[in-house]
Amino acid sequence: EEEEDDEQQKSEESSDLDTSSEEEEEEEDGVKVTTETSEPKETNPSCEETKPKNEVTAEKNEKDISEKKKLSEPAVFVPVDRSPEVQEARLKLPILAEEQVIMEAVRENPCTVICGETGSGKTTQVPQFLYEAGYASSSGTIGITEPRRVAAVSMSHRVAKEMNLPTRVVSYQIRYEGNVTSDTKIKFMTDGVLLKEIQKDFLLQKYSVIIIDEAHERSVYTDILIGLLSRIVPLRNKKGMPMKLMVMSATLRVEDFTENQKLFRNPPPVVKVDARQFPVTVHFNKRTPLEDYTGEAFHKTCKIHRMLPPGGILVFLTGQAEVHGLCRRLRKAFPYRRGNTAEREDGDTADDMKKFKKTKHKETVSLPRIDLDNYSALPLDEGDEDREAGIGDEEDGDSDLDLGDDPVGTEDKCDPSIPLYVLPLYSLLAPDQQAKVFRPPPPGTRLCVVATNVAETSLTIPGIKYVVDCGRVKKRFYDRVTGVSSFKVTWTSQASANQRAGRAGRTEPGHCYRLYSSAVFGDFSLFSEAEITRRPVEDLVLQMKDLNIDKVINFPFPTPPSFEALVAAEELLISLGALEEPPRSGRVKEMQQARLSCPITPLGRAMASFPVSPRYAKMLSLGKQQDCLPYVIAVVAAMTVRELFEDLDRPAGSEDESSKLAQRRARLTQMRRLWAGQGASLLLGDLMVMLGAVGACEFAGCSPKFCEDNGLRYKAMVEIRRLRGQLTNAVNAVCPEIVLAGLGDHLARRVQEEELLDPKWKNGYKTPLLDDPVFIHPSSALFKKLPEFVVYQEITETSKMYMRGVSAVEAEWVPQLLPQYCHFGAPLESPLPWFCSSSGTVRCHCPSTFFRVGWQLPAVEME
Ligand code: CDP
Ligand code: MG
Repeated sequence: EEEEDDEQQKSEESSDLDTSSEEEEEEEDGVKVTTETSEPKETNPSCEETKPKNEVTAEKNEKDISEKKKLSEPAVFVPVDRSPEVQEARLKLPILAEEQVIMEAVRENPCTVICGETGSGKTTQVPQFLYEAGYASSSGTIGITEPRRVAAVSMSHRVAKEMNLPTRVVSYQIRYEGNVTSDTKIKFMTDGVLLKEIQKDFLLQKYSVIIIDEAHERSVYTDILIGLLSRIVPLRNKKGMPMKLMVMSATLRVEDFTENQKLFRNPPPVVKVDARQFPVTVHFNKRTPLEDYTGEAFHKTCKIHRMLPPGGILVFLTGQAEVHGLCRRLRKAFPYRRGNTAEREDGDTADDMKKFKKTKHKETVSLPRIDLDNYSALPLDEGDEDREAGIGDEEDGDSDLDLGDDPVGTEDKCDPSIPLYVLPLYSLLAPDQQAKVFRPPPPGTRLCVVATNVAETSLTIPGIKYVVDCGRVKKRFYDRVTGVSSFKVTWTSQASANQRAGRAGRTEPGHCYRLYSSAVFGDFSLFSEAEITRRPVEDLVLQMKDLNIDKVINFPFPTPPSFEALVAAEELLISLGALEEPPRSGRVKEMQQARLSCPITPLGRAMASFPVSPRYAKMLSLGKQQDCLPYVIAVVAAMTVRELFEDLDRPAGSEDESSKLAQRRARLTQMRRLWAGQGASLLLGDLMVMLGAVGACEFAGCSPKFCEDNGLRYKAMVEIRRLRGQLTNAVNAVCPEIVLAGLGDHLARRVQEEELLDPKWKNGYKTPLLDDPVFIHPSSALFKKLPEFVVYQEITETSKMYMRGVSAVEAEWVPQLLPQYCHFGAPLESPLPWFCSSSGTVRCHCPSTFFRVGWQLPAVEME
C-alpha cells in the first residue's frame, strides 16, 4: 500500500507541472491568493488546508512562518580552513562584498538570481558561502550545474583547493566520469546529469541547494532544469524538506526568468555583483578574411607578440582542431626555449611591421560596463567537436591581409626574442592540461591561450591583456529532414563579441583585435537566441514525457519553443510508438488536445534512456531487443556521419586535369557498385551498404590505405569509429540491460475471450510457469489497457496474484524473448521465419535476421 501511495504522489508531483495554466486562471477568476507565496508552504504546509485563504490570515501566517522558518534554517556555521594566500585572493573578488546580501536573499527566498560579470567569483565562491552557512552540514548536498564539462571538472578542483577539502567532499560528475562519494558535500555536474537525476528522484531529495550556473547560455537543459526546479522547490517546501534554488549568470536578460509569471509567480530577487572592468580598446580589421581566419589569427598574434608590451594573449577560435592547428604554428614560430629565435613561419618583413603600426581603422571604446538589461543568451561552446565546417563570408570578397588598425606604438615593445608560452583550451581537453592556463606562465615568457568560446564566460584566465577574436562560433544545426545535427561555424553575436573583448580588461586596460570589419560586426545579431527556439524538440518532449509531464505545452519554459515545433514533436513521437496514440473519437478540437497530451509508452521509456534522437533511439531499443545492437549502433553512427564514400567530383590532389578526374570518377563509381552489390546489401539496400563498409573497414584496422583503395572517406570512417565507441559506452552506461531482455521468462499472455472457460480467468493472464491466472496490479499504467503480451518484474500474492512492473510487448518481440516457446517455420514463399503463438499464427519476421550477415563486427575500443 505504501508503494501505491508513493506512486500516487509521484503522479501528483508531476501533474503539478501541468497545472500552471489552470492556476493562472484561478487568479484571473478573482480569487486573489496573495499568500500563495512559497514561504507559507515552505514551513507550514498545514495552514493552507485549515485556514481560509485571505489576506488577514495571511499576515498571521507570515508571522508564524517567520518563526518557524528559523527552525528550518541551517544554523550551524561550518568553518573552512583556507590558506592565507587563498583567503587574500578571495577578498579581492567582488562577490565577497555581497556575501551577506546573497545569503540573506537565499535565506528569505526559495529562489534567488545572481547576476555578475565573468570573473567576479560566482562559481567558485557561492558554493563556499552556502557550505559555510551550513547548507551542506546535515541536510544534503549543494549541487551546481554547468552547461560544459570543462567547467564542472575544473571548478570542482578549484573549489576543493580553495576550501582545503579533498575531492571526495568537493566532487564532480559529468556524463561518463566523476569522483562523487557518500561524503560529497559540494557537487559540480553538467546540466544533463542533473536532469537524469530528476528522472530517478523527482524531488532531488539528496540536495539542499541547487545552483544553476551560466544560465545566460540558455542551453536547453538549463532552461528545462529551471522550469522543473520552479516546481520542485515549492513541492519540497510543501513537504517540509526545504530546498533552495539559485540561478547564476554572467549577463542576461534576467526578465526571461524573473518576469515570467508561468515560471515564478513571485519574481525572485536579483543580486547584482559589480566587477571591476578596465577599458578595452577594440580594433577592427579593415577587411574580413574570407575563410582563413585562423591564418589571420596567427599573423595577428605574431604581431602582438613582437610589437606590444608584456601581457597575456587570448585567441578565440571555434573548435578543437583549429585550436591545435594554431598552437602548432605559434609554437613553431616562437619556440618555447630561451634564446631560440629560429626562423619564423610568418616571415614578416620590416615593411610589414611599419604597415602594422600605421593605424588604418581604429575604434576605441571604453568597453561598456556590461548592461545587464540588454544582454541575453550567449552561445554555447557547442563546438569542441573536431568536425569540419565551412564558412561563408561573401561580404568582403578580398582576403588580402590587412595589417592595419593597431594600437599606440608609444608603449615599450616586448623583446621579440621572448618565447611564447602557447596553451590550448577547449571543453574536452584533459583536466590537467586545462589547469595549466590558470597558472602563471614560466618566467620570461608571454602567455598565449588559444581557446574556443569556453573562455568567453565560464573560465577566467588571469593576466590577459590582448584578445584576438575571429568573430565566429561553432554551433549545432539541425537538419529538418533527417533530424541529424551537425556543427557549423557561423558569426557570433554582438553580445558575445563584447564579452570576448571584455576578457582583455580583467586586470588592466587591454586591447581586443577583431578579425573582421566594423560593418560585419554591425550585421551580427544583438544576442544569440535561446538554443531551445532554434532546434527540433522531439528529444526534449520525450525526456519530459519520461518524467510524466504529459502536457508539455503547459511546461514553464523560460523561453518556450514554438507551438508548431511542439506539435511536430508529439506527432513524430506518436508515430514512432514512443507515445500512446489517443483514440480517434470526439470533436476535432478535443482530438487535437488529446494529441498534445499523450502519455509515454514502455517503448518510449526505453528510447528515452538512449543519448540519441528519438528516431535513432527507437532503432537502438529494437536493436537491443533483437540482439543486434552492435550492428544498429554501427548503422546509427554511419547515418549520423553520412558521407561515407569519397566525393566523385572532388579534384584529386592539386592538378585537376580532366582525364585524371574522369579516371577517378570511373574508379569510384566502380567501387560504389561493388559495395552495393555485396550479399545482403542487394536485398536490403543502403543501410546494409553502410554496415558492410563499416565492418570491412574495421576488419582492415581502419587504415587510410584501405579507405583510399576502396573509395571510402577516411575521416568519415574514423568519425564513425569514434561515435560507435561513444554510443556503446552510452548505451552501456545509461542502460546496463534493457528490462525486456532480462525478463524474457517473465512473459504473460492475456486469456482470449474464446478461451474463457472459468470466470476466475476474466482479465487474467497465463504464464508459462503457473497454472493459475495472474493479473496486472492496479498501480500499473497498463491496469486497464490489458495488452495481449506483457513482461513483468515480479509476481506478488495478496487477494490475487498480481504482476508488478509490467511492460507491454509486441507479439513480434516474443520470438526473440522466448524462442523456446515459439515454433519457427519457413513457409515456401518467404525466406524469413514465422511465429506461431498458441492463440493462432502471428505472422511476423524476426528483424535480427536482417543482420545475420555472416560476420561479427569487431568490438570498438572504448574511450
Ligand atoms: O563565476 P565567475 O565568472 O563569476 O567567477 P569564478 O569562475 O568564480 O572565478 C573567480 C576568480 O577565480 C577569477 O578571477 C578566476 O581567474 C579565478 N580562478 C582561478 O584562478 N583558477 C581557477 N581554476 C578558477 C578560477
Ligand atoms: Mg562562473
